[in-house]
Amino acid sequence: MGTHTGPILEGRGDTDYERYVRVPELLDLQKPAELLAHPEERLFQTTHQAAELWLHHVDYEIIRAAELLGAGDVSLASDLLDRCARIINLLRQQIVILETMAPADYHVVRTSSLGRGSGGESPGFAKLLTVGKRLWPLFEALLATRKVTVIEIERAPREHRELFRLVQAMLDYDEAFLNWRYSHMRLAFRVIGSKVMSLKNVPAAQLEQGTREPLFPELWETISSLTQEFKPSY
Ligand code: HEM
Repeated sequence: MGTHTGPILEGRGDTDYERYVRVPELLDLQKPAELLAHPEERLFQTTHQAAELWLHHVDYEIIRAAELLGAGDVSLASDLLDRCARIINLLRQQIVILETMAPADYHVVRTSSLGRGSGGESPGFAKLLTVGKRLWPLFEALLATRKVTVIEIERAPREHRELFRLVQAMLDYDEAFLNWRYSHMRLAFRVIGSKVMSLKNVPAAQLEQGTREPLFPELWETISSLTQEFKPSY
C-alpha cells in the first residue's frame, strides 16, 4: 500500500503545482523559439507579458483599495496602496532589463514582429492612468466625513496618524508610477532614441509629458503650500 502523492487537481501538467499555476497554458502564450524573429525577441515578449500580468494585478488591488476607502477602512486601504507601489517599483526594475538589448537587435524584432503595436495600447496601463480619477473622489469624501483637509493632515501628521499614512501611501504609489514612466522613457530613448517617431507615428519625445503628470496633483500642491506656510526666507 503506497501513499498517493500524484496530482489531485484537474488540468494540464504532471503535478498540482503545474495545474494550479497553469504552467503549460502560460508557456503556450510565448512565441515558440523557432518562430522568433531574433533570439533577443524572447526577452521582449516575456517582459511585456509579465508587465501585463502585474498591471492587471495592480488594477485588482486598486479596486479593493477603492472599496475600502469608501467603507472608511483607511488602514487596510493604505496597506494595499503600499503593496501596489511596491509592484510598480518591481515593474520598473523589470522593464529596464530591456536596456541590455542591442538597438540593432530590437529593430529586427520591431520590423518583423510588432506590427503597429505600441505599449500605448496596453489595457493594463490605460486602467492605471485612471487611478487618480477613481480614488480622489473617495478620498475627498473620506476627509469630509472626518472633517479634516489635506493641509491640516500635513500640518499635524501625528495628530492625524492614520490619514497621514494614507496620504503617504498615495504619494508613494504616485511616485512609483511616475518613476516607472520616467524609466520607461529612458528605456525607449536608449533603444530607439529620442528624436524618432514611434510605431504609432507620434514623437518618442512625447513620453516626457507623462513623467510630469501625477495622479494626485492636489497632494503635491499641498506639500508646496505647507512650505509656503513656513515662510521660507531663502
Ligand atoms: C525596447 C523596449 C521599448 C521601447 C523601445 C518602447 C518604446 C515606446 C515608445 C516610443 C512609446 C511612445 C509612443 C507610443 O505609444 O508608441 C511607448 C509607449 C508605451 N510603452 Fe513602451 N517601449 C518599450 C518597452 C515597453 C515595455 C516593456 C512596456 C511594458 C508594459 C511598455 C509600455 C508602454 C506604455 C504603457 C506606453 C504608453 C506610455 C504613455 O503613454 O506614457 N513599453 N513605448
